[in-house]
Amino acid sequence: MSRVAVELEQDVVNFVRFLPPQPRQALWRALKNLQLEQGDIRALEGDLEGFYRFEAASSHPTRITFAADFSLFTFHFSPLTLSCHPGTVPKEVTNMPSLPDFRLETYLARWEFAARFHMTASDAESMSLSDLLRLAEPADREAFEHLWLGYVPTFGGEAFRNTVASAYASVSPDNVLAFAGGGEAIYVALHALLGPGDHAIVVTPTYQSLETVTLSLCAATGIALDGDNGWKLDLDEVRDQVRPNTKLIAVNFPNNPTGRLLSAAEFDELIKICREHGLWLLSDEVYRLIERSPSLRLPAAVDHYERGLSISVVSKVYGLPGLRIGWIAAQHHDLLERMERIKHYLSICNSGPGEALAVIALKAREQILDRNLALINANLKCVGEFFTDFPDLFEWETPDAGTVGYPRYKGADGIETFARRLVEEANVLLLPASIFWSELTPLPEDRFRIGYGRSYVPAGLEAMRGWLARR
Ligand SMILES: Cc1ncc(COP(=O)(O)O)c(C=O)c1O
Repeated sequence: MSRVAVELEQDVVNFVRFLPPQPRQALWRALKNLQLEQGDIRALEGDLEGFYRFEAASSHPTRITFAADFSLFTFHFSPLTLSCHPGTVPKEVTNMPSLPDFRLETYLARWEFAARFHMTASDAESMSLSDLLRLAEPADREAFEHLWLGYVPTFGGEAFRNTVASAYASVSPDNVLAFAGGGEAIYVALHALLGPGDHAIVVTPTYQSLETVTLSLCAATGIALDGDNGWKLDLDEVRDQVRPNTKLIAVNFPNNPTGRLLSAAEFDELIKICREHGLWLLSDEVYRLIERSPSLRLPAAVDHYERGLSISVVSKVYGLPGLRIGWIAAQHHDLLERMERIKHYLSICNSGPGEALAVIALKAREQILDRNLALINANLKCVGEFFTDFPDLFEWETPDAGTVGYPRYKGADGIETFARRLVEEANVLLLPASIFWSELTPLPEDRFRIGYGRSYVPAGLEAMRGWLARR
């Protein structure tokens, strides 16, 4: 048999590039096994850290199926060469044809309801329907009980848009478009704003869809917050990366997973760059309103910049993700209309009960946020004490805002093994660094996301202490 170079089909190449380390290692092992079994794929170079380059001597398509930690992947190989080193991923990546797995959601689908302590939750403690209704003004409660269960307007009902608008300084109800949560808002906004030939800048690490949906639409450049320098954003780099075809900068502050905020001066500078170049600022602000100190709170992008788009939800700081309600506030009604037409292909309109309950929650904003902030501050004290007790294992800096932080794990076993063992042996769920891996920028591989918004956080920390003592 003559030797031919073998390459994965293009869509598989993209898929493999997006795999987190564990499935990538499993793929590597599978390739090696296949070589032993069939003798038609020969490894040229490679290691278990994700450097893979191989050659095959096969004139027929080959199918490999293997089980990785997270799910089952099937790869189709046809006679084509993959040579890819994820450690030196180029900074600019041209768009990929389809969306990869949403790593965070895939991981949570496996563990969120299986683990006893979801110690990486990004939402504040929720409440029961009856607790929320107790906070309602009598007329809203009455309206909810007699709610007509028909469709609601795609843009969002009048009461909803009025209530959302009242929370901003410069937003009228016409400047609000309702969505089924922040995930839909991100997807729709990016589809309305970006297309082939465009370029976008994405600040990493971030909620994955801000990066991968962008990459499915156009070229993108990543700019990583600096983990060795308080997760600082290098604004000179942002400025340097703007090109004639750059349309948008996507940011998420308070940031998931680091919990970091820009200073007011940095935010102003970012807006200055956007304004100079006429860029849209897609600002995912779902963790806004829970800051360590009120002086840290940034203005909403929509109130501060004419091309600012503020994405928000009741899922996170209000602790009501089950309502599936979010929105975008923007000064440009015509842009929101474009988004509305995309939304017609997705949820069409919100759930009526969800929207009515979101109105009740937004009107009780002060009470709900005060309750959640008190819990978060108490939890943060326990989290800080926990990390102080294990200085050889963890490095922790208190986040500026929100419900999550991104400490360093210093153990020799590495965070991926630590997080896997912790959930399997102690029923405590954390999100290891591979979940926040970026296609655009290198990011630290020794971090994990911890959440501190839930009522059981002290008990979860005790479970971690117990396991650390036993292991
Ligand atoms: C930064 C960020 N944006 C958007 C979302 C999605 O929000 P939702 O659950 O309302 O769809 C999340 C959820 O974790 C998030 O962390």
